[in-house]
This record gives sequence, structure tokens and C-alpha cells, in this order.
Amino acid sequence: MRKIMVIHGPNLNLLGVREPEHYGRTSLESINRKLAEITHVHGVSLETFQSNSESGIVECIQNLMDDPVDFIIINPAAFTHTSIAIRDALVAARIPFIEVHLSNVFSREPFRHHSYFTDKALGLICGLGPHGYELAVAAALHYLES
Ligand code: DQA
Repeated sequence: MRKIMVIHGPNLNLLGVREPEHYGRTSLESINRKLAEITHVHGVSLETFQSNSESGIVECIQNLMDDPVDFIIINPAAFTHTSIAIRDALVAARIPFIEVHLSNVFSREPFRHHSYFTDKALGLICGLGPHGYELAVAAALHYLES
């Protein structure tokens, strides 16, 4: 069975209560549930992981080298703009990935305009709120079927 891993970075455990003007009012649990419903219909399994720590995310990705998945969807959150370590882990794992952001990072502070991930990603979805994750799953399913 094909497997998609969704990785959520720091503070995304607070979705629903954290700065709703940027991130909306949908909880992380409800986003994950919706994605699992979509993948289930397609006979694909979905795993999710959230960590507030950079090392937690690096280890999660390294573990995928022994127990691989077919595709990664990642919102590195604030680590988007800082983490060479997570970028290197993704490159080492050689698993195709899509980068997702709930907010339109390009319409926000200049420090959010740079990502350590985009040039290595299959694609980038940002500014569409929780729907962006659903679009990323649809793109991943399309990629896996083609
Ligand atoms: C975010 C954007 C980042 O700049 C920010 O640090 C986040 C969330 C987003 O989903 O819009 O924590 O990745």
C-alpha cells in the first residue's frame, strides 16, 4: 500500500487558536482527519507527525530512510526560514515532497519570503489555508498514480 507522510512543524499544534487571522480556526487534528479520509478513499495510507523541535523533524525524516513512504507533505512552519538541517534530511531521504503553508508567506514579513525548501520541493502551495493541504494530497495522489 502506498504511503504519504504529512509533517507539521513548530506551533502548528496550536492551529485553531493561534493567530486565526493568519492560520484560520481549523485544528490540526481536523486537518489530519480530513486528509486521512481523502487518502483512504484512494487506498493510500496517511501518517502524520508534528514536532516543535528541529531534531524531532530531522529524526522523523531520517527514520523514513529505513521505513520509507512514497511521498512527503511538509509544512516546516518557522523552520522554513531557518533550517538547513531539515532541508538536508529531506535531500538525503530522496523522497519527493510538497511544501505547504497555510498563509501567503510572500504577503507577510520579508523574513518569511525565503524558504530553505522550495528549490528542492516538487511544488509549493501557500496562502490557501487548510485547503492547501487537501490540494497537496490531491497532487501527491496524482503523482503516485502517474
Ligand atoms: C507557516 C508560515 C511560517 O512563516 C510560520 O512561521 C508558521 C506557519 C504557514 O503555514 O503559513 O509557523 O508555515
